[in-house]
Amino acid sequence: MSGTIESTMHEMRVFPPPQDKAARLSSMQQYQALQQRFVDDFSGTWGELATQHISWRKPFSTVLDESDAPFYKWFADGQLNVSENCLDRHVAAGLGERTAIIWEGEPGEVRHISYAELLGQVCRAANAMRALGIGKGDRVVIYMPMIPEAAMAMLACTRIGATHSVVFGAFSSKALHERIEDAGAKMVITADGAWRRGAVSTLKPGVDAALASGCATIEHVMVVRRGGNAVDWVDGRDVDWQQALAAQPDVCEPLAVEAEHPLFILYTSGSTGTAKGIVHATGGYLLWARLTMQWVFDFRPQSDVFWCTADIGWITGHTYSVYGPLACGGTTLMYEGVPTFPDPGRIWKICRDHGVTVFYTAPTAIRALIKAGDAWPAKYDLSKFRILGTVGEPINPQAWMWYHDVIGGGRCPVVDTWWQTETGGHMIAPLPFATATKPGSATFPLPGVFAEVVDMEGVPVEHGQGGLLVVTRPWPSMLRGIWGDEARYRRTYWQKFEGRYYFAGDGAHKDDDGYYWIMGRVDDVLNVSGHRLGTMEIESALASHPAVAEAAVVGRPDEIKGEAICVFVVLKQDETEGLRTALRNHVAAEIGPIAKPDDIRFADKLPKTRSGKIMRRLLRDIAAGREITQDMTTLEDLKVIEQLQGKG
Ligand code: PRX
Repeated sequence: MSGTIESTMHEMRVFPPPQDKAARLSSMQQYQALQQRFVDDFSGTWGELATQHISWRKPFSTVLDESDAPFYKWFADGQLNVSENCLDRHVAAGLGERTAIIWEGEPGEVRHISYAELLGQVCRAANAMRALGIGKGDRVVIYMPMIPEAAMAMLACTRIGATHSVVFGAFSSKALHERIEDAGAKMVITADGAWRRGAVSTLKPGVDAALASGCATIEHVMVVRRGGNAVDWVDGRDVDWQQALAAQPDVCEPLAVEAEHPLFILYTSGSTGTAKGIVHATGGYLLWARLTMQWVFDFRPQSDVFWCTADIGWITGHTYSVYGPLACGGTTLMYEGVPTFPDPGRIWKICRDHGVTVFYTAPTAIRALIKAGDAWPAKYDLSKFRILGTVGEPINPQAWMWYHDVIGGGRCPVVDTWWQTETGGHMIAPLPFATATKPGSATFPLPGVFAEVVDMEGVPVEHGQGGLLVVTRPWPSMLRGIWGDEARYRRTYWQKFEGRYYFAGDGAHKDDDGYYWIMGRVDDVLNVSGHRLGTMEIESALASHPAVAEAAVVGRPDEIKGEAICVFVVLKQDETEGLRTALRNHVAAEIGPIAKPDDIRFADKLPKTRSGKIMRRLLRDIAAGREITQDMTTLEDLKVIEQLQGKG
């Protein structure tokens, strides 16, 4: 099992939830009663919630259609528009002047964008896109920094029924190219550049490079001016965002689409092959984004300022920087730059300056901030914090305790949320004013979510025993498939338990009190600083370097990143000076800097079984410096091990 955080501290304390009668779910009894409603009437309860929380243009008559499982459909004959739910309905309710987005640029400038202003800009963008030939079902790739225009671009797509696919701005042009090709996108929206670490980093050249060959479906590239840097311009293809919007009216009729219409595609790594395009549908996703905001963050739109630090290139940024807070009519904060620039107090300064009340980040960030020292948070008044959240990887108890005590002053509940790109929103998480928390446990499945820890045959394991985490009933924001690859969808998520359960790819156990403890991935997916990377992708990137004959990639525990990337390489030639750096840079150019190996080891051979399979478990032990316990009689060459351990 990779991804497991080894902790030197065992925190056995249980933290009772603070009392707050104003909370949406304020006791375990309420949680249990709601969960019981799902047990008694699964579709009736979902149907009721969907009617209450979403503005439908055409009401649905069926809640869940299981006839083509595992291609589940939710609210299928209903129609709605996401931007209308996130914007128009709040403006119509008299909230037009409320701040929708607070944005801070890295150099320090601040924008407060009201719901009315955001609606106007989204309408202009939607009109501009339409004028450029984008319509319902067309795919639009968004390759943007963290600027409000990124959220506007996403919402503008939803307004006209286009399906967006956001590609993380630090992915390489090659990764961008592959995603554009796979999605068959018609447009890319990007920016000239953005501020990072005190300088303007560029994005447009990455798009130009991605489009230099292939990508025949692309007709236009819209470019937001942010960095002020010069960019190459392809006449007829490239369009200036600001100019295009200025030429359009700020009114655009939202297009009602079917609840199952693909809202977005988001690429994520799997254990094999290239990145897969996870497809999310309109109605179910929006419902769960809104409900989890309310349940897990107890979001109070009239008074909360919510900051999720994730980039919009990841699912966390989709659901909790954009759609969740806006579907609720609240205020979301976006920050452009590096969280530790110009110093490690930047995050806390932003929280203080804007009165952030609910803060959501990754354990890796918390660990880096711990290392920077308590003096940084101590400089800022953080008393407005109500709730602190974490996501993306298991949180070690030390980091949890620091977050709780130093950042939350011991007052704020910590919600450790387990979920995935595929699940669309939180699945296992505490309810801040109902669930007693245990540091390192994501606690219990949310109301409406049915999860289990099972053995290889699908039988629930005893409490305390490790097993595989599965979801046993469909849920509205579940992925609808992998873009263009039905077989891979079935194989990856449903085959293991013959269609009965959704297989998440994580290991877990439940303790005697029924708390869920997530142990990390059980497949060949790494979790590096909360970012998901496939070992295969990194291996193929390495194999495409002329000096490399063969490469194997594994994770090893890392104090800050959770997991670090360790690669074992067989060269075609002798090792030359600077080769390690060249290989690291090669991987960065192929995938992106987040995939740069931390550790590169050369050997004459890789350890393989007689049948020729790379012995990955053995490599993981070697990478972690653990004692080798495997039976090595099947190894071709024991000397290889010594080389890989650095003894050869
Ligand atoms: O291994 C789990 C880990 O992150 C994986 C999903 O990654 P991704 O699709 O990129 O989405 C991350 C943000 C939702 C999971 O399979 N993971 C996520 N949250 C947690 C976690 N592991 C432990 N505890 C969590 N709270």
